[in-house]
Amino acid sequence: MLDKIRALLNEIEVLKAATREEVEELRIRYISKKGVVNQLFTEFKDVAPELKKEVGKSLNDLKEAAQQKINQLKESFETTCDGSTGLDLTAPGDSISMGSRHPLAVVRNRIIDIFARLGFSVAEGPEIEDDWHVFSALNFAPEHPARDMQDTFFIEKNPDVLLRTHTSSVQIRVMERTQPPIRAIFPGRVFRNEAISARSHCIFHQVEGLYVDENVSFADLKQTLLYFAKELFGEETQIRLRPSYFPFTEPSAEMDVSCSICGGAGCNVCKYSGWLEILGCGMVDPNVLEACNIDSQKYTGFAFGMGIERIAMLLYGIKDIRHYFENDLRFLRQFKAAL
Ligand code: DAH
Repeated sequence: MLDKIRALLNEIEVLKAATREEVEELRIRYISKKGVVNQLFTEFKDVAPELKKEVGKSLNDLKEAAQQKINQLKESFETTCDGSTGLDLTAPGDSISMGSRHPLAVVRNRIIDIFARLGFSVAEGPEIEDDWHVFSALNFAPEHPARDMQDTFFIEKNPDVLLRTHTSSVQIRVMERTQPPIRAIFPGRVFRNEAISARSHCIFHQVEGLYVDENVSFADLKQTLLYFAKELFGEETQIRLRPSYFPFTEPSAEMDVSCSICGGAGCNVCKYSGWLEILGCGMVDPNVLEACNIDSQKYTGFAFGMGIERIAMLLYGIKDIRHYFENDLRFLRQFKAAL
């Protein structure tokens, strides 16, 4: 019996396996219930009593050695990676699931691109603002309703700290630190104290534009916006400017584009008018230039501002502004093809 054990011990010490399957075969042969080691245990009952102690110990040592050897062989396949490990190196990799840009980012980037081609750079300003940059420097009268808590989110009163209600505040920030020529656009998020519905939200996005130099005229404004509209909505697009009022521009206008859905014939998106309103614009009021220490005798400028949500709704036929903010993957995945 002892000889048998010794022989088996020697055999086990030099065991080798080339694959995981071979390790499994060895495990079954040596240490499974019906394996050779257990077989010896069943023979143990026939061992002479005076030898039981010695044989028992050797048997236990054998069992342990066999177990250790099999474990060692198993581990060698877990740590190496040489093609014989059971890892299938030819298996196709996990597919990388591609994200998509948010439609508002897609449209913002397109707007930035179009104005970049006209030499407009991009600047940004803070979302948390003061009264001066959002209202006073922009020529809002002291009692203007926009200054009311009904319309504006205030963080503090006296001195006022508030969430900007439009990106026009960035006009002031830029003009305060730069003398003309200035030609830039300002994309950003704005906040208004409004009830949330399919058509309006308390958070939305705008792109503001500003061009200040000597001899900038309303004709420059009109031509810039015509180019922009054709680039964004298509070559056949027409624009019309309707007189309007904003405190910071004089004269002021609102711009409509011919409806890109019905081509101007009339449909439910343009409410059968053939036109869609997309932005406000005008010549920078001299008071605004002066508030920023820019000589209004020497320089003139134009400005415009548009809502990104509304433009994206028109471009993609999105019916409810709340979709932009819910991050429902079924909505977002539809913009995979957009750049
Ligand atoms: N700030 C205006 C708004 O939020 C949009 C606007 C109108 C911006 C006319 C301008 C402008 O720069 O000239 O409704």
